[in-house]
Amino acid sequence: MVGRANKPSALAATPGLAPQPTVTFSPDNSRVTAELPTGESVEVLLYGATVISWKDSKGDEKLWLSSAAKLDGTKAVRGGIPLVFPVFGPPPPAPHPTSTLPQHGFARTSVWEFLGKSTSESTPATGEGAADLSVKLDFGLSTASLSAEAQSLWPYKFNLIYSLTLSPSTLTTSLVVTNDDDKPFDSQVLLHTYLRVNDITSVSISGLSNSPYLDKLLSPQAQTSGTSDLTITAETDRVYSTPNGASDAVTVLENGKPRFVVTRDNLAQVVVWNPWTEKASGMGDFEPKDGYKNMLCVEPGAVGTWQTLEPGDAFEGAQTISIPN
Ligand code: BG6
Repeated sequence: MVGRANKPSALAATPGLAPQPTVTFSPDNSRVTAELPTGESVEVLLYGATVISWKDSKGDEKLWLSSAAKLDGTKAVRGGIPLVFPVFGPPPPAPHPTSTLPQHGFARTSVWEFLGKSTSESTPATGEGAADLSVKLDFGLSTASLSAEAQSLWPYKFNLIYSLTLSPSTLTTSLVVTNDDDKPFDSQVLLHTYLRVNDITSVSISGLSNSPYLDKLLSPQAQTSGTSDLTITAETDRVYSTPNGASDAVTVLENGKPRFVVTRDNLAQVVVWNPWTEKASGMGDFEPKDGYKNMLCVEPGAVGTWQTLEPGDAFEGAQTISIPN
């Protein structure tokens, strides 16, 4: 018989016995859910590779999703994290190659493939406790899997890999665009995150001060922000190009307390959008109509100009949304 002193410690240290993240598919295979042993979860529709839910360990939802959002693949999802590619907003006029595409492109309305999951473990730098587990989900979209219509509207061979990494207090979403064509192409990418807030009138946003921005609701659009934090008191639709580019973190606070910290990798712009009353009323898939009080879009993107990719080249951009303690 093995001595008792050896037995429990040897078993407890066996990594294979630790609880692992779970990844499950819906019965119709239209969505993937990942859950950490500590209770955090993320749910992703293959339609658009759209994240439609991100919950913390207590089950509190971090993203806003319209109760009228179409989740059946008939329309881009109103809420969660839709993916914008290869054009942001209404496309520019002909002869630009994106000119016939729909607003925000086709990535959010195409069916992606689930490529697989991986898990990793990181030991906290300080303090006691078990290692943090994280789970990464990979999704792919390439020219061959586009609808015939989208292929004809944007005639380039490309490959997209979208990776979501869920850890106990962060969600990272990262997009890699590869040019598989034999000619260069221009594209824009943006991660259209709808953050859930308790009350927009208590929200302030730091990290956008002293920044040039385009105000899509003003003419001329070119503006520069002042020194104070941004508050939302009316329809807001701005494209910030923060002074230090992707290294400027954006923090969303409620009643002065940080709720979300958004950091970026290689995404020089941040769009801040809230439709407020009138615009929300005009959107059939925006419900409840006063839902604008509970959401704020903070959208990291590379949309200030066009990313030109030569054949074989790749562009990678990412956001990490952290939940402060
Ligand atoms: C934002 C744009 O990113 O998305 C806004 O800056 C736009 O101009 C909003 O209204 C929502 O777009 P859509 O196509 O999802 O209604």
